[in-house]
Amino acid sequence: MAAAAEITPELRLDRPIDLASRDFLLNKESWYPRIRDEAPVVDGRISLMRLKLVSRYEDCRFVLTDERFVRNRARSLGKSKGSALPLPLPKSIAALSTSMIYEDDPEHRRHRNLVNQAFTTRRVAAFEPRVESIAAELLDALEGRTEATPGSEIDLLQSYATAVPMRVISELVGIRPEEAARMENGLTVLSKGLTGTRILKTMLFDLRRVGRFVRELIERKRAEPGDDLLTALIEAEEDGDRLTTDELVAMVFLLIIAGLETTEHLITNGIRFWIESPGVRQRVEGDEGRWTDAMEELVRLHGPVLGTKPVRPCEDVEIAGIPIERGTMVMPLLGAANRDPAVFDQPETFDETRSPNPHLGFGFGAHFCLGKQLALMETRVALRRLFERFPEAHFARPPETLELANWPLWHRHIAMPVVLR
Ligand code: HEM
Repeated sequence: MAAAAEITPELRLDRPIDLASRDFLLNKESWYPRIRDEAPVVDGRISLMRLKLVSRYEDCRFVLTDERFVRNRARSLGKSKGSALPLPLPKSIAALSTSMIYEDDPEHRRHRNLVNQAFTTRRVAAFEPRVESIAAELLDALEGRTEATPGSEIDLLQSYATAVPMRVISELVGIRPEEAARMENGLTVLSKGLTGTRILKTMLFDLRRVGRFVRELIERKRAEPGDDLLTALIEAEEDGDRLTTDELVAMVFLLIIAGLETTEHLITNGIRFWIESPGVRQRVEGDEGRWTDAMEELVRLHGPVLGTKPVRPCEDVEIAGIPIERGTMVMPLLGAANRDPAVFDQPETFDETRSPNPHLGFGFGAHFCLGKQLALMETRVALRRLFERFPEAHFARPPETLELANWPLWHRHIAMPVVLR
C-alpha cells in the first residue's frame, strides 16, 4: 500500500537503518523479511538518536513484557527516581508533559488503575450512537459540498478522518459545544506540535495555554460533575488515592496525544485500503459480523503506529541471543512483527477471518493501548458510513501519487484526495 519508489534501494544491514529516511518510509514492508531473517536485532537511528531495532514477533513481545526492560531512562541506569524525559524542562511544564506511557511500575500501575476506572468498555460502547451522529453530520457536510460541485476533489484526511476523532475526544472528555473551538485548537497543538521544529514552541508556550484551559475545565467539572470521562477521572479513586490536578491534566494530554492522530491515520489508511480492495470490501460490507475483525486486520497490516516508545534493559540482557548492554535504547518494530510469518499465515494477505489475530498494532504488555476499543469502533463507524453514503468514492489522482508523511515509525498520509461522487 505504500507509495511506490521509482527504484527500490537495497537494504544495508551493515550500517544503522535510518528510520527517518524516505528509503525506509517507502520500502519498509519489502525490507522487513530480510531484517527479521538476517538481523533480528539491528542498529537503527532517528536523526542523532541511536537504537536497537527488534523485528521478530516473539522478540517484540519479550521486550514489551520482560520486567528488565523499563521506560524510565534514570531507572534503566539503576537510579530509583528520575525524569523519564530526555530534556530538562521547567517544573510547571515537566509536570504536564510526564505521562504514564513513559513510566514503569509502581507509578505506571497506579495511573493505569485509576484511568481504567474511568475509561471503561461500558463508557466506550455507550458512546457509539454519538460517534454515528458525528459521522452522519460530517457526511452531510461532505454531501453538501459534493452536490454544490459534483466531481470535486475532497481531502478526506482533513474533512473527515481528522474531524471524527477530534469531535469524539472532545465530547468524551465532556466539553461544552461552545468550548469546542478552543478545545480543538488545544487538541491540534498537542497532537501536531510535539514533534519536529515546533516542539520547543509547543513546550514553552502552547502547552501552558492548553494546560490552563484543561485546568479550568477540571475546576468546572469538580463544581459541576457530568457523565463524562473527565468527571470519571476526577472521581476515580483507589485506596483513598486520586489523581492530582497536574496528573489529571497530564492524563487528558496523553489521551489526546495517544488517541487523536492514531485514529485519524487508521481511518485514512482504511479509506485508501477500502478503495484499493473491492474484494475485501464486498466481503466485509456484505456481512455485519465481519466488521470488527476486519478493523483488527486493518491495524495489523496498515496500522498507523509502527513502533512503541523505546524501552531500555536495566541490566545486560540477550535478545535473540544477541547481547544488549544495560541502558541501551531498544525499539520493537511493531510493523515488522505484525507481518512475521512465524505467527501469521500468509502475513501479507488481508484476512478478516484470521482468528486469533494477536497483532501488536496496539502494543503489548503493561502499556497495551488503553483506547483500542474506542479506536476500532470509531474506525468501523467512520469507514462503514462513508462508503455506505458514497459507494463510488474513488481516488482523485493516481494512487501512486498519494504521499506518505515522513514521520519515523508512522504509516500516515499527507492527504487523501478523493472524489466522492
Ligand atoms: C488506531 C488507533 C490507535 C493505535 C494504533 C494505538 C496504538 C497504541 C500503541 C502501539 C500503544 C503502546 C505504546 C507503547 O507501548 O509505547 C498505545 C498506548 C496507548 N494508547 Fe493507543 N492507539 C490508538 C488509539 C488510542 C485511543 C483512541 C486512545 C484514547 C483516547 C489511546 C490511548 C492510549 C494510551 C493512554 C496509551 C498508553 C497506555 C499506557 O502507557 O499504559 N489510544 N496505543
